[in-house]
Amino acid sequence: MSPLPTTAAQGPDLRVSFAGIQLKNPVIAASGTFGYGLEFEDVVHLDKLGGFVVKGLSKEPMAGNQPPRLYETPAGMLNAIGLQNVGVRVFLEEKLPKLRRIKNIVVFANVFGFTREDYEQVIRALNEKEGIAAYELNVSCPNTAHGGIQFGSDARSLDEVVGTVKRATKRPLIVKLSPNVTSIAQMAKVAENAGADALAVANTYVAMAIDAETRKPRIANITAGLSGPAIKPIALRMVFDAAKAVKIPVIGIGGISTAEDVIEFMLAGATAIQVGTASYWDPRATEKIVDELQEWCIEHQIERLAELTGGLQTE
Ligand SMILES: Cc1cc2nc3c(=O)[nH]c(=O)nc-3n(C[C@H](O)[C@H](O)[C@H](O)COP(=O)(O)O)c2cc1C
Repeated sequence: MSPLPTTAAQGPDLRVSFAGIQLKNPVIAASGTFGYGLEFEDVVHLDKLGGFVVKGLSKEPMAGNQPPRLYETPAGMLNAIGLQNVGVRVFLEEKLPKLRRIKNIVVFANVFGFTREDYEQVIRALNEKEGIAAYELNVSCPNTAHGGIQFGSDARSLDEVVGTVKRATKRPLIVKLSPNVTSIAQMAKVAENAGADALAVANTYVAMAIDAETRKPRIANITAGLSGPAIKPIALRMVFDAAKAVKIPVIGIGGISTAEDVIEFMLAGATAIQVGTASYWDPRATEKIVDELQEWCIEHQIERLAELTGGLQTE
């Protein structure tokens, strides 16, 4: 990618880079909240975003869980979509060719599976085609070969799946950690040592909601993942802990809906960030945050946004 000019007249430099990928700005649309990107083509200028992560892709298509699968909570949202997706083959045949026609965008492919071999097969299939900047591994899935405990909640399973994918990948590997762990720093180090090129911190927080009248769970799956502003302070702490523990870049995720949120995550140590639930409330949220970031930098006389990463003042 050719470097963009950075004269003062052109405003602040919002570019960031990680794992050898340069982005126009740090704002990336999060997996599962932005479809395959194509659904947002008429709503958001896709080429204004740092990038976007497509829905999680599995070896075979998946129908997902029974409804209700979404429930709004104070300042947040519960989801148990159940990783519904078209499967990697349909993605490669139908979605990716359309994405490749759109100029100047950065596409990340989110990948998941239920065994190490599942992950490896999806990665090998994706390796064959152009138009993907990097892979993001969703490790918040039950490892069926190891009794159903999530890959990302067990250090050994995490090490194994990241190592397996690292040997198979032709592209940079972002490991998206589960926050449902005792020590995010420990899991961050495990992923780094197993070959991750960057970390995404983090996925949703296991939670639930109950209807007191009917005495039933609000979500058919009973438990679900909590996202949105409600999780922001926890996610910020996770990013801070993970970034201190590793040398590889960290992408911050959790409740981001304004430019100020982005700045906070960068100060905590994030190189880039992802926006998820905010796109449900306002489908244009990602693009608006990019505009706001530009204004924020002008107002605060920040010439290079990337310099804020890790800039938290603790004294
Ligand atoms: C409806 C929905 C579907 C999601 N699907 C995926 C997915 O397929 N893969 C994944 O790694 N994360 C998935 N996530 C998690 C988000 O990418 C993100 O990590 C999380 O929502 C926290 O960010 P937020 O608070 O900005 O939404 C999903 C989240 C939501 C709300």
